[in-house]
Amino acid sequence: MVSFFIVLFSFFFLSIHVSTTDTISADSTLSGDQTIFSSGGTFKMGFFQPGNSKNFYIGMWYQQLPVQTVVWVANRDKPVSDKNTAVLKISNGNLVLLEGNNQTPVWSTGLNSSSAALDAVLQDDGNLVLRDDSGSVLWQSFDHLGDTWLPGAKIRYDKRTKKSQRLTSWTSLEDPSPGLFSLELDESTAYKILWNGSTQYWSSGPWNNKSKLFDSVPEMRLNYIFKYSFFSNATESYFTYSMYDPRNISRLVMDVSGQVKQLSWLNNNDQWNLFWSQPRQQCQVYAYCGSFGICNEKSQPFCQCLHGFRPDSQKDWDLMDYSAGCVGKTELQCSRGVINQFMPLTNVKLPDNFEVWGITSFSICGSTCLGNCSCMAYAHDESSNRCLMWTNDVLNLHQLEKDNSEGNTLYLRLSASDMPNSSSSGKSNKAMILARF
Ligand SMILES: *[C@@H]1O[C@H](CO)[C@@H](O)[C@H](O)[C@H]1NC(C)=O
Ligand SMILES: *[C@@H]1O[C@H](CO)[C@@H](O)[C@H](O)[C@H]1NC(C)=O
Ligand SMILES: *[C@@H]1O[C@H](CO)[C@@H](O)[C@H](O)[C@H]1NC(C)=O
Ligand SMILES: *[C@@H]1O[C@H](CO)[C@@H](O)[C@H](O)[C@H]1NC(C)=O
Ligand SMILES: *[C@@H]1O[C@H](CO)[C@@H](O)[C@H](O)[C@H]1NC(C)=O
Ligand SMILES: *[C@@H]1O[C@H](CO)[C@@H](O)[C@H](O)[C@H]1NC(C)=O
Ligand SMILES: *[C@@H]1O[C@H](CO)[C@@H](O)[C@H](O)[C@H]1NC(C)=O
Repeated sequence: MVSFFIVLFSFFFLSIHVSTTDTISADSTLSGDQTIFSSGGTFKMGFFQPGNSKNFYIGMWYQQLPVQTVVWVANRDKPVSDKNTAVLKISNGNLVLLEGNNQTPVWSTGLNSSSAALDAVLQDDGNLVLRDDSGSVLWQSFDHLGDTWLPGAKIRYDKRTKKSQRLTSWTSLEDPSPGLFSLELDESTAYKILWNGSTQYWSSGPWNNKSKLFDSVPEMRLNYIFKYSFFSNATESYFTYSMYDPRNISRLVMDVSGQVKQLSWLNNNDQWNLFWSQPRQQCQVYAYCGSFGICNEKSQPFCQCLHGFRPDSQKDWDLMDYSAGCVGKTELQCSRGVINQFMPLTNVKLPDNFEVWGITSFSICGSTCLGNCSCMAYAHDESSNRCLMWTNDVLNLHQLEKDNSEGNTLYLRLSASDMPNSSSSGKSNKAMILARF
C-alpha cells in the first residue's frame, strides 16, 4: 500500500515536474506569470518588464540572483502589452509568441524546415533549444544572441558567407530592441565593436595562435577564472570561453554604454562586479552622445548637449540612451537679415566627418561657412591652413583637457539669440564672429 502511494506520488510529481520545469511542449504553454526553469535551477524564463517599462517581453534571467539580470530576450523589438493574453507555445513547427484575443503572431523562431519542432528546452547553460521528435536541434538561442554572451556560447564568423554573428546592445535600459553598438568577429580573427553596423571604434586585435590571446587584450594572460579557446577551419571560426569553476557566474555584455563588459557575480556583496571592459574610456565610444552632443570623461553624466541645444528626447536621455543626440533649442534661422554667430568650443577632439573646403585663412574660412547655411560648424588648421567644415551632423565630439595636444577649436553656428550672454563670456572670446549677410 505504502509503495503504491509512493509510485502514485512520484508519478504525479514527475508529471507536474515535466510540464512545469524546463520544457515547453505541444501541450504546455507559457503565459501570464508562468515560468520555466532550467534543470539545474540556474536560469528561469517567462515574461518580464525592463525597468519601469509598461511593455512585456519573453526573457531569460538567473533564477538565484536577487537582482533580475536578463541574459536573452525573444521578442526584442516587438513587446506585448498584456502578458495574460500573450502566450508562448509550439505551433506549426516553431516556437511562437502570440498576443491578444485574436492570437496575433508577435515573434517566431521562423523555421521553415520539414521536421517540425516537438518541444523547447531551457538548458542550464542558458541555451533555449528547439528539438524535433528525434531530439535533433532545430534552433537554439545561442545562435541568436542578444546583448549577452554566456560561457559556452560562440560568436561565429562564417567564411563562406563572410558574415559574423553579432552581439547587439539594448537601445536603452528599458528597451531591449537592438541598439547602435555591436560586437562581431571578422575574417582576420579579431573581434571588433561597431557603431550603427559600420563604424569601428574598438578591436581585440587578431587571435594569436602562439600566446593564445587576442593581440590587443594582453590582460587575458593574467586570467585564472576563464578557459579560452579559438576554433578555425575552412568554413568557420569562433572564440568561446567557459569557467574553470562552474560555480562562478559570469557574463559578457555589449552594454548600452557602447562598451563590452565582462561581469562576475560576487556572492559576498550580492552584486555584479566589473571584471574587464573595452574601450576603457566612455568617450572612446563612437558618437556616444549623438549629434550635437559632447562627451566629457570628467563630467557626470558623460554626455551634454552643446550650448544652445537640448536632448532630442529627455526621456531617452535619462535612460542613458543618447543616440538621438541634441536639437537646437530654437530652430536655426539662416536667411538674409538673420544674424548667425559662431561659438568657439575649445580643447575639443574634432569630429572626423568633415569636408575640407580649401586652403585659406582663418577669417575667410569663417565667412565662407557663415555664407553657406548648410555649414553647421568649421575649424581652421593653423599649420596647414586647411578650412574644415561640418555640413550635416556634428557627431563624435569629445571634450579634452586644456593641455591636450590633440585639442582644437570648433566654431559652432548658432542663432544670435542662442549665444551665451556677452557679459559673461563674449568679451573674453575675441574669436567669436558676428556678421550679417
Ligand atoms: C519557406 O518555405 C516556403 C514554401 O516552401 C518558401 O516559399 C519560402 O521561401 C521559405 N522561406 C524561407 C525563409 O526559407
Ligand atoms: C544608421 O545607419 C542607417 C543606414 O544604414 C541610417 O539610416 C541611420 O540614420 C543611422 N543611425 C544613426 C543614429 O545615425
Ligand atoms: C593556428 O595554427 C594552426 C596550426 O599551426 C593553423 O592551422 C591555424 O590556421 C592557425 N589559426 C589561426 C587563427 O591563425
Ligand atoms: C568546421 O567545423 C564545423 C564544426 O564546428 C563543422 O560543422 C564543419 O563541417 C567544419 N568544416 C570543415 C570544412 O571541416
Ligand atoms: C569563483 O568561485 C570561487 C569559489 O566559489 C570564489 O571563491 C571566487 O570568489 C569566485 N570568483 C569570482 C571572480 O567570482
Ligand atoms: C554649401 O556647402 C556645401 C557643402 O560643401 C556645398 O555642396 C554647397 O554647394 C554649398 N552651397 C553654396 C551656396 O555655396
Ligand atoms: C542672459 O541675459 C538675459 C537677459 O539679459 C538673462 O535673462 C539671462 O539670465 C542671462 N543668462 C545668463 C546665462 O547669464
